[in-house]
Amino acid sequence: SLPKKVTIIEVGPRDGLQNEKSFVPTEVKKDFIFKLKMAGVKEMELTSFVSPKWVPQMKDAGEIAADCLDEHTRNIILAPNQKGISRVYDTDCRAVAVFVGVSNTFNLKNINKTTAESLEGLRPAIHELKEKGYFVRACISTAFYCPYEGKINEKDTLALCREFVGMGVDELSVADTIGMAVPSEAFSLFEKLTEAFPDILIASHFHDTRRLATANIFAALQAGITRFDTSAGGLGGCPFAPGAAGNAATEDAVYMLERMGIETGIDLDQLLEAIEVVRPHLSRAIDSSFYRLSRQA
Ligand code: HMG
Ligand code: MG
Repeated sequence: SLPKKVTIIEVGPRDGLQNEKSFVPTEVKKDFIFKLKMAGVKEMELTSFVSPKWVPQMKDAGEIAADCLDEHTRNIILAPNQKGISRVYDTDCRAVAVFVGVSNTFNLKNINKTTAESLEGLRPAIHELKEKGYFVRACISTAFYCPYEGKINEKDTLALCREFVGMGVDELSVADTIGMAVPSEAFSLFEKLTEAFPDILIASHFHDTRRLATANIFAALQAGITRFDTSAGGLGGCPFAPGAAGNAATEDAVYMLERMGIETGIDLDQLLEAIEVVRPHLSRAIDSSFYRLSRQA
């Protein structure tokens, strides 16, 4: 049976903006984050502590972290390595997301290390984070397909997840980085994940390249998933994953779920107001179904 209530983890300010060509002013990002919280978002990836040479859009991460934390939201910062995690220690942020690709080639392109090297570096770092009482989320990229290596074996994804569970992470966010999974694949992997790791949080992270993200969310829901990474406006994409389109749009996911009688806690009108804050600063049009229809009404 389906849940009465689910959690949306808003990734718009991070995944949504990281791939935008022109720099979105820091004040606009702050207002976007504020309005997303007003709309009811309770968990959010705010920004990432990565190299500004690799991802220039995130160069203001320090300012975002300084000004956008609050006690009512789980504010998450991404960090790929010890340097990023050390930067988190200089803030009041209490939740960190690390990210590693199942695909070695993708991991090299994304963070310039093999998957094994990343794990080796993150093991002591996560240990320290947990000792200090941080919430730790592990984002598992290329869990279904890789732009360089093609189809990924479920066993390899499960094995990488098991490594992070062994390190004591609180949550796995399992990603279809380039949006190639279909609902049968989403159901199959998430069913195995919920069976294998009943005691930790598991979120799905679908990109909408082939317009199957909401279908995949439904499949994950049927497999027992109650946490969904989505991005306001359907923005997003990874600069090091050619062919990746935006994330599942928060408004499309919320619309579907609420119509199914599943509570998300998010107000669609206020969500549209948040989208309007960033829209003028984007180099792409917002084309989620819900957004388009709301403009025609
Ligand atoms: P590197 O060049 O191998 O790093 O990059 P390095 O250790 O040799 O350091 C080079 C420079 O970067 C040095 O500065 C370091 O201090 C600095 P310099 O001396 O040249 O001035 N540096 C840092 N600066 C800030 N924060 C840091 C940091 N680390 C080193 N944490 C590195 C390695 C990991 C830094 C680089 O590859 C990088 O920043 N990659 C980030 C890539 C990224 O952000 N990708 C997008 C997020 S993941 C994603 O979108 C997928 C996800 O959505 C799930 C899905 O959909 O699949 C999560
Ligand atoms: Mg992503």
